[in-house]
Amino acid sequence: MMGMTNHQGRSRRLYPSRIIRAARPRPLRYAHVIGWGMEVPSEVLSNFDLEAIVDTNDEWIVTRTGVKERRIAEQRETTTSLATRAAQKALDIADVLPSEIDLIIVATATPEHIFPSTASMVQDFLGASNAGACDLSAACTGFIYALDMAANKIRTGDINNAIVIGAETLSRVMNWSDRGTCILFGDGAGAVVLQGSDVPGGILNSVLRSDGSGWDLLTLPTVGSRDTYLEDGSHEMHRIYMDGKGVYRFATRVIGDSLRQALDQIDLTPDQLNLVIPHQANQRIINYAAKSLKIPEEKVYSNVARFGNTSAASIAIALAEAADSERIKPGDLLGLVGFGGGLTWGAMVLEWSALPSTRPTYSLTWGRRQGQYAMAGLRRPVVRWWRRLMLLSPTTWVAALMRRLSRRHRNPSTYPSDGEHD
Ligand code: COA
Repeated sequence: MMGMTNHQGRSRRLYPSRIIRAARPRPLRYAHVIGWGMEVPSEVLSNFDLEAIVDTNDEWIVTRTGVKERRIAEQRETTTSLATRAAQKALDIADVLPSEIDLIIVATATPEHIFPSTASMVQDFLGASNAGACDLSAACTGFIYALDMAANKIRTGDINNAIVIGAETLSRVMNWSDRGTCILFGDGAGAVVLQGSDVPGGILNSVLRSDGSGWDLLTLPTVGSRDTYLEDGSHEMHRIYMDGKGVYRFATRVIGDSLRQALDQIDLTPDQLNLVIPHQANQRIINYAAKSLKIPEEKVYSNVARFGNTSAASIAIALAEAADSERIKPGDLLGLVGFGGGLTWGAMVLEWSALPSTRPTYSLTWGRRQGQYAMAGLRRPVVRWWRRLMLLSPTTWVAALMRRLSRRHRNPSTYPSDGEHD
């Protein structure tokens, strides 16, 4: 038996491994963003369009939130399809094959299912045959949480390549008669490819926090949540409920403090940041971030006017946009900061190391990527049928095939076919 101390300095007694006799220290790794991409639906819903849906007006929305328009997913667009497209763009910039990816995390509050995870579906559509996949639920802070989890897997040397995605189709869970919420949110996805390297830089530090006592300020009830039994009937299943003023107070309290804390832990100060990318919730909160960090407003990225609040996708979309427009240069110090339902909040400090990159060149790797996407599309039906075949005797197999064909003939599905996710 051996005396150990945990990080708080309290002593603990642990039984040492009989398997690991000589500890072989792994070399220190750094997690770098080497690819980025975003995908937003093409359908635009402007404030003027909203005037026809709820009792509101453009002036009120712009003054209180800064939002002018947002993107709304069409029927065939889903959280998975947006996430997959953003990930494909990020893979193009990174010039990495899907089969080289070890881990996919999708931060989302609007998964297509509670299970399977959206990440598992993305993994299948990409043909990322060597990747683990899971969703992460931390509402609008989800992308920062997911980035931190993936970066730490890379830093420890467990994995080398990860895709981290923030993706939402919030329009599907909006109460379109509640003018306090439906004016704020929009749909979209952003993704990054993280890669391990011994070159110093990349993700430097993060702070993740939660205060669950505020869970009722921003909720999306599901699976018979206690909210849906409220006698005043204010909360519906699969509809967003928000206490706007409560969330505003919370956001302005944590936005500057958390980023300052993440900087402070690595002996940096806000004035050293080249760009802050906050969660795109509301222009007034974004401006407050600049004030509280005592940095000029131009150093705080904003696209809330064009996309509204896309929850877990917002920081990922803003990051991809900033990188595409070369607003971020190699060596820049970035601060990411998010907050949202949970309550959750988090901040991350990141040293940008990716060299400017052009959109896909039709290289050999590009061709191999397209090949892996195509193979994934072919593999899916074959593997599904093979699984069924293994379970059924030949007579029942033929009967099942006949049943399926006749059902399709009578009732063609409106749900996007697998191919349309690509
Ligand atoms: N259009 C026109 N009028 C509206 C309106 C709308 N869309 N929504 C509310 N109003 C009205 C209210 O009914 C109220 O009218 P009254 O004074 O006659 O009662 C008035 O405008 C003020 O409403 P209030 O709710 O006090 O507004 P607000 O200044 O708090 O702004 C938010 C509302 C939602 C914009 C603001 O609270 C906010 O931004 N909160 C943070 C939300 C957020 O960021 N959420 C996501 C976090 S991840």
